Amino acid sequence: TQVVPCDFVVFGGTGDLAMRKLLPALYLRDVDGQLPPAFRIVGVSRAGLDNDGYRGKVEAELGTHVPAAALSATAVASFLRRLHFVSADAAAGSGDWQKLVDLLAEAPDRTRVFYLSCAPRLYGPISRTLANSGLVSEQSRVVLEKPIGVDLQSARDINDQVGEVFAESQVFRIDHYLGKEAVQNLLVLRFANMLLEPLWNASAIDHVQITVAESLGAGQRAGYYDGSGALRDMVQNHLLQLLCLVAMEPPASVTDDGVRYEKLKVLRALQPVTGQLAATHTVRAQYEAGALDGRPVPGYRDELDGAESDTETFVALKAEVHNLRWRGVPFYLRTGKRLDARRSEIVVAFKPVPHSIWPGLEPTMTPNRLVIRLQPDEGVRLHMLAKQPGPGGIQLRPVNLGLNFADQIPDRIPDAYERLLMDVVRGNPTLFMRRDEVEAAWVWTESILHAWRDGHAPVHRYPAGSDGPTAAHTLIESDGRHWNEDN
Ligand code: BG6
Repeated sequence: TQVVPCDFVVFGGTGDLAMRKLLPALYLRDVDGQLPPAFRIVGVSRAGLDNDGYRGKVEAELGTHVPAAALSATAVASFLRRLHFVSADAAAGSGDWQKLVDLLAEAPDRTRVFYLSCAPRLYGPISRTLANSGLVSEQSRVVLEKPIGVDLQSARDINDQVGEVFAESQVFRIDHYLGKEAVQNLLVLRFANMLLEPLWNASAIDHVQITVAESLGAGQRAGYYDGSGALRDMVQNHLLQLLCLVAMEPPASVTDDGVRYEKLKVLRALQPVTGQLAATHTVRAQYEAGALDGRPVPGYRDELDGAESDTETFVALKAEVHNLRWRGVPFYLRTGKRLDARRSEIVVAFKPVPHSIWPGLEPTMTPNRLVIRLQPDEGVRLHMLAKQPGPGGIQLRPVNLGLNFADQIPDRIPDAYERLLMDVVRGNPTLFMRRDEVEAAWVWTESILHAWRDGHAPVHRYPAGSDGPTAAHTLIESDGRHWNEDN
């Protein structure tokens, strides 16, 4: 079904995110017939382009970022006709800003989405300029990209500034991991199947692992990334959101604010990692030069032209959720850039059976593991034990029950942004973060930042193309556990 007619304004309209994700997502929704004829897309940035120049640029980028099977000359041409460009400094309201005002004035009653795909320090100033120009109505929504701020105080300031212009119900704080199909499937897996939920607690689960490994380096984003690092860029938002979805209590329904309340409760139950605890519960590291797929790749500092940066490109953590369900069940998190492969997964490691009826076979009784693969090759796999066929008595053999989405559900898996951008237009906030959630995530993240600042965890190094620093293995192995290696 089509969404309502909308003017969708992207600040940072010529930037990396707009080109790689936002415009391709809107294009794919258009191809599916979801955008009504009156849906307009306006790019705003300081680039000196006119409408035709912008359409030309977007056309070239779509060619690179949209799957070839979805590209058609007619569809692209009709999508490009929706596009407009305004060359302006949006924080100052200078340049061709009046062109934006005039354009939006053509359809005063239409839903307006202002997507802020720019530096978070500009969220407040741009909101104010929008309000001063009379562009904000009750039908307006603002989308804020992560990370919101660099710590709790800056996040509060940004939320306050945006809050002076937009009501909380108009603010959509995006975390694109929540739009990933495999992440949404996690809720279905937990709450639409009878099998798992009765076991989903400390009496049956030994620990949980969440890994988001990337083979990409900081690359062209090194400027932004160096002021951020993996803890702020990935853990504060994406990994904590995944942890929340695994750990939260069942909401009564997804139609109200239930999911967000339950996630907030998890964030508030996270044990702060202060002082000395950071030495045993956290590992931070940075990649050095190495090799990936047989090709040499530079180290992080080389990408920064040799600057003396200690910014972490890898983090491993042991997080603890202090509530009745999860007491004593560690959540091991790790994420890093320039690792040997792109691989994201959640591993739920069950406890061993309490008693073996086959004396002597205990060492081969590997406990069950549920592996939820987020990307690539979305799927779910349950590691179990079966009898090794043969007449010579009982021998145990590991077997897998597997669901590979691509095999069983051959539909194209949409990109996270496709779902989330349409949710903004429809006004559905379930998969977006509320202010209190973002701030609770900062409270916990900040405990680690402070401990690191106070020197409680050294910065390790790892070669690009490896699986991270040795210290990340030590973190989990000193608890007698191992990172999941099975593919
Ligand atoms: C972004 C981070 O939010 O997520 C990037 O800023 C990271 O550093 C990206 O590369 C990973 O997203 P995905 O969807 O490719 O896993």
